[in-house]
Order: sequence, then C-alpha cells, then structure tokens
Amino acid sequence: AAKVRAAILGFGTVGSSVARILCDSKPAGVELTHIFNRNVARKRVDWVSQSVIWTEAIEDVLSAPVDVVLELAGGLDPAGDWVRRALEAGKSVVTANKKLIAEHGIALDKLARSKGCHLFYGAAVAGGVPVIPGLQQGLAGDRITRIEGILNGTCNFILSKMEDGADFAQILKETQALGYAEADPTEDVAGFDARAKLVILLRIALRADVAVSDVAAKSITEIAAIDFAYAREMGCTIRQISRAELRGDEVLATVGPMLVPQDSPLAWSRGTENMLLVGGAYGGDVVFSGHGAGGHPTAVAVISDLLAIAHGSCAIGLPSKKVGVSGDFLLRHYIR
Ligand code: HSE
Repeated sequence: AAKVRAAILGFGTVGSSVARILCDSKPAGVELTHIFNRNVARKRVDWVSQSVIWTEAIEDVLSAPVDVVLELAGGLDPAGDWVRRALEAGKSVVTANKKLIAEHGIALDKLARSKGCHLFYGAAVAGGVPVIPGLQQGLAGDRITRIEGILNGTCNFILSKMEDGADFAQILKETQALGYAEADPTEDVAGFDARAKLVILLRIALRADVAVSDVAAKSITEIAAIDFAYAREMGCTIRQISRAELRGDEVLATVGPMLVPQDSPLAWSRGTENMLLVGGAYGGDVVFSGHGAGGHPTAVAVISDLLAIAHGSCAIGLPSKKVGVSGDFLLRHYIR
C-alpha cells in the first residue's frame, strides 16, 4: 500500500523529536517528506533521510502531494493560517497547538469534516499522556461529569520543587532551560496554558463549548514558601489544578493554585508530570498520568495521531510472528 506522506511544520523541540523518532523507529506506512522552518540552514541536521525536502516556503508543503501536515510551530498566527490552508487543500492535520485548538478547534474540525480529512490534536493536551484519545474513544461510552488534574508541567515542576524548599525564580529558570516552559512563561504561571488545555478537554469530556476567556485563571506567583508550611499543617500540598464540572446545564471551570490533600494522587505528581482524573457517571473514576511536556513525550502523541490517520482506528497491527515466552518471574523482582 502507498505510504502516507507527512510534512513537519516547525523544527523546534517537538518537531525535531518527531523527526528523530520517525527516523529511529521507522513506523510502517508513513514517510517523512518535508521539513518546513524559518532559516533552514541553521536547522538542518544530517540524521534525517536525504530524500526529505527542507524548505522555508510554506507553499512548497501546501502544493506538494503531502497527505498529513504535522503543525508543530504553535501560536495562533501564522500557524492557524497554515492549518486552515492545509485542510482546505484536503490534507489532514495533526497539531500540538493547544492555543489554536482552544480558540478555533470547533470551526477547524468542521472544515476538516467538510473536506473529508482529519484534524487530530492529541499532543495539544498533556503531551505524551493519551487523555484526548482516552476521552474520545476509551471513555466515549460513559457520561463524564467531572475532570480535574494537572495540565501544566512547568507549574507542577515549580510547585513540587517549592514544596521541597526551592526558590520560585530559580526553578522557573531551570524549567526554561529544560525546554518545558512556553516562550513567554507567563502563559504557564498565570494559568493560560492550562486553561486552553482545560477548554479543549471539557469540550470533549463534558460536550460543552466554553470560551477560553470565560474560564477564570489565577497565577501561581501568588504562592510563597510559607503557604506550603500552612498547607502541610492541614495535611495538604499545593498544585496548579485545572478543573471542570457539570452542574445541571452549567459548567464550573477554573485553573489556579489549589490545596490538594496529601493522600490524593494529584499530590503525588512531581516534576513535569501531568495527571487527569476523569469522573464518569457509570464507570467511576479513571486516572491518566505521565510526562506532559518535553519533546519526546509530545512527539509520541503526534506520531500516534499520524499512525491513526495512516492505519485507521487500530494504529498498531497484530504481531506477525510467534515468539517464545520464558517463565523466570520471581518474587525477588518485588522484594528489593
Ligand atoms: N509549557 C507547557 C507545560 C508545555 O509546561 O506543560 C506542554 O504543553
């Protein structure tokens, strides 16, 4: 069968991780054909296949026989225009762009459907943790009434280190150096990044169309070391929590630093871990957790969406050969 041809728009942290994983693991049925970025000369690497076309002109991608555009540049402008034009040209789009999907996801989704192509954005929320496919497929049979969790790795990194006594400004610098924080870290600390993600999730989980600016966001900069001491006295810690709940016809939704009981799974999250608790009317609570930021985890979500487009709903085929099994599995593995 013909391979699905994919183009990367934006060769930054996530874009280069996507290229790296595609080159290393060579998943069946897909082929990287283009990499688009400004100033290609500065970006070019020798580990991608010679056949990949590097370009600074978006037209080179939009007019080429590319099947799927991987938009990994981020931001509303010009990325939104590229996504719209790709869909109009009948190309499917996979994007990690939470801002774009939070603001224009519904209109873009309609455009994609009208053109008979796909718009997938599993990487837009919680990086490598499959919360969007989990809600869209695995939990589609339930009636979700509540979602709450940790959707910003930078804030979780900062707050979990402050809990251990570190200084805010110092840790923020660290998260920037590690490539977790947004270009403007105000997006992270003020709660705007998590708010965009919450709006995307509640759209899927609670079937509610909520304007991003209608959701209240409180900054974690209001939290000082002393607050952790008070929290501890109450058997709690502090995390940036994003939560949304259905109350009749209304949705309650907020993002901000909140007290979290020490025995809640939300309190156990450390570093850039993201976590989402989903409350279902029939199936009860489900918890998702894992790496919510960083190139490789986010790239995994991008490639999973690409494979879903290439292979349909079951992106991973069944094994084609039998392998032996050894039974050497002893309790000593547990008793360290
Ligand atoms: N700045 C974001 C975060 C990146 O820290 O979670 C992933 O969306």
